[in-house]
Amino acid sequence: MNILDFARRKQNGEKISMVTCYDHWSAKILNESAIDTLLVGDSLSMVVHGFDSTVHATVAMMASHTAAVRRGAPDKFVIGDMPFLSVRRGLEPALDAVSELMQAGANCVKIEGIDGQEEIVSHIVESGIPVMGHLGLTPQSVEAFGGHKVQGRNEGSAAEIIRQAKAVEAAGCFALVLECVPAELGRVITAQLNIPTIGIGAGSDTDGQVLVLHDMLGMDTSFKPKFLRHYLNGQNDIHSAVNAYHSDVSTGAFPSKEESYA
Ligand code: KIV
Repeated sequence: MNILDFARRKQNGEKISMVTCYDHWSAKILNESAIDTLLVGDSLSMVVHGFDSTVHATVAMMASHTAAVRRGAPDKFVIGDMPFLSVRRGLEPALDAVSELMQAGANCVKIEGIDGQEEIVSHIVESGIPVMGHLGLTPQSVEAFGGHKVQGRNEGSAAEIIRQAKAVEAAGCFALVLECVPAELGRVITAQLNIPTIGIGAGSDTDGQVLVLHDMLGMDTSFKPKFLRHYLNGQNDIHSAVNAYHSDVSTGAFPSKEESYA
């Protein structure tokens, strides 16, 4: 998959699949999978670093994880997430951040929001860097939203998100992530844009879907928002494997003679 395939997929009605990827070992596994694209999302600040929101992600963090993913997944289209406020400090710092992510191996950058940063987004696009937009529940604005809440539930806020989606397209973005909006709003925006939409909690009519890898692998069984489907019981399977290893070590069953050097 490359940048040109996004528009082609939308035209042909072929869905785009995306998961987050933060590190080298999962990138190696995903490189051999059928998945279309990998997102080095700033959600890594929560999933990998244990913070309570994405506002703790830094450009250095994102660049380091992007480089690890690129080394593990040389064949995949990799999206680097612009972290908290990295676009809002002005053009030069924004370009420095974009430069770090692209030099770390990203194929494009993803930017949350559009209002007040249209010119910077256009400048990045005109500099030859593909930009993916991100609207709806944009987690970097979690404090302004009063929590991780579905956005665009009433007519006024839905109209606002539609307006912003058109502004994202007008700024030159090649695709748009729509996070946690009603399915009907996901459908309407997808129908009104020429660029593909990638949904997470945005219903089934978007042009593609993205999930956090750890979430879809069931690594935290206590985390089960409505939009999430578990494709593995990762937490329990890892517990079982590690407990089996612990038991074998305790009883002396591991290592065997065959697992020891003569
Ligand atoms: O950081 C992230 O994982 C994201 C997805 C939820 C779209 O932005």
